[in-house]
Amino acid sequence: MALERTFSIIKPDATKRNLTGKITAMLEDGGLRVVASKRIQLTLAQAQQFYGVHKERPFFDELCEFMISEPIVVQVLEGENAIARNREVMGATNPAEAADGTIRKTFALSIGENSVHGSDGPDTAKEEIAFFFSGLELVG
Ligand code: PPS
Repeated sequence: MALERTFSIIKPDATKRNLTGKITAMLEDGGLRVVASKRIQLTLAQAQQFYGVHKERPFFDELCEFMISEPIVVQVLEGENAIARNREVMGATNPAEAADGTIRKTFALSIGENSVHGSDGPDTAKEEIAFFFSGLELVG
């Protein structure tokens, strides 16, 4: 089976609690390889652009303010079925519904402060990777 790439964010609630290493270890233990990684501070305009698909949702402002509240770690993950695999390792968006052993069940505080983001399909993975990384930064 061909290797696939997906895009991941370790969100502000997690970087603030010094969970970057623990979350990265769970991703790696889940069969995903980190082929690019950087810690950045988003501007409001960048957060609004990244989450533009949600701009009509009632939580849009709260989501963008949260995403700029602390640094984040953006990563590109590679593996077999990486998009689906990453979503399994993350668990459901709402931590109350996430399976035991998932990142969100283990660490998330709420549906908004839910520790990680992962691409939901091949097209968004490609777009999200290109939003944050140049080809030169991806080292497989
Ligand atoms: S979708 O598109 O219907 O599946 O939307 P969903 O996955 O539920 O949520 C999309 C992102 O919005 C965040 N979210 C929220 N933030 C703040 N408050 C509330 N109530 C809320 N509900 C959802 C959710 O964490 C998702 O973030 P990402 O980064 O995409 O995982």
